[in-house]
Amino acid sequence: MKKIGLFYGPLGGSTEKVAKKVAAALGNENVDLIPVKEAKATDIEKYENVIFGISTIGKETWQSDKSANDWDVFLPEVEKVEYSNKVIAMFGLGDHITYDLHFVDALGIVAEKIIPRGANITGKVDPEAYNCRESLAIIDGMFIGLPVNEDFEPELTDQRVNDWVGKIKTDFK
Ligand SMILES: Cc1cc2nc3c(=O)[nH]c(=O)nc-3n(C[C@H](O)[C@H](O)[C@H](O)COP(=O)(O)O)c2cc1C
Repeated sequence: MKKIGLFYGPLGGSTEKVAKKVAAALGNENVDLIPVKEAKATDIEKYENVIFGISTIGKETWQSDKSANDWDVFLPEVEKVEYSNKVIAMFGLGDHITYDLHFVDALGIVAEKIIPRGANITGKVDPEAYNCRESLAIIDGMFIGLPVNEDFEPELTDQRVNDWVGKIKTDFK
């Protein structure tokens, strides 16, 4: 398997914690962990295998909340890249208890940018396992990436990550 570029943000919270779990499950030697804060389109272009990790800090605060700032800056970089020769997987931090109408929306917002640029997205997840009413991340009946709820279901995270990594790693080049 070629090296995977795992681009994640924000730093210092649940997204970073889960990014490290995903890297460990894939084998740390197979993964470059890259904070989106420091990354440019040319960094994404170096990898054929890419993972994006993001938290959702509310549709209304997408442009203003400090936790979303890393991705605010990175999203225009994401939009510069052509994805057709890449395999992409995504995970998203969110909370389906408090935000059950906007659960992990950020995953859907990123997907909207990369699908028209040819992204082959692996690691879709059945929404049956989550109780949320609406999410921009549900595309054609499936979550476009792995939702993780460290706020209310932290005990499920390891299993979720390990099951998901088991699926995506066979699709990476
Ligand atoms: C102001 C605020 C708004 C949030 N909005 C959403 C939301 O719209 N949808 C969602 O699924 N989670 C939402 N969350 C929950 C976060 O995504 C969740 O706590 C996540 O684990 C934070 O990850 P981080 O520690 O890496 O920032 C929100 C949290 C905060 C503090």
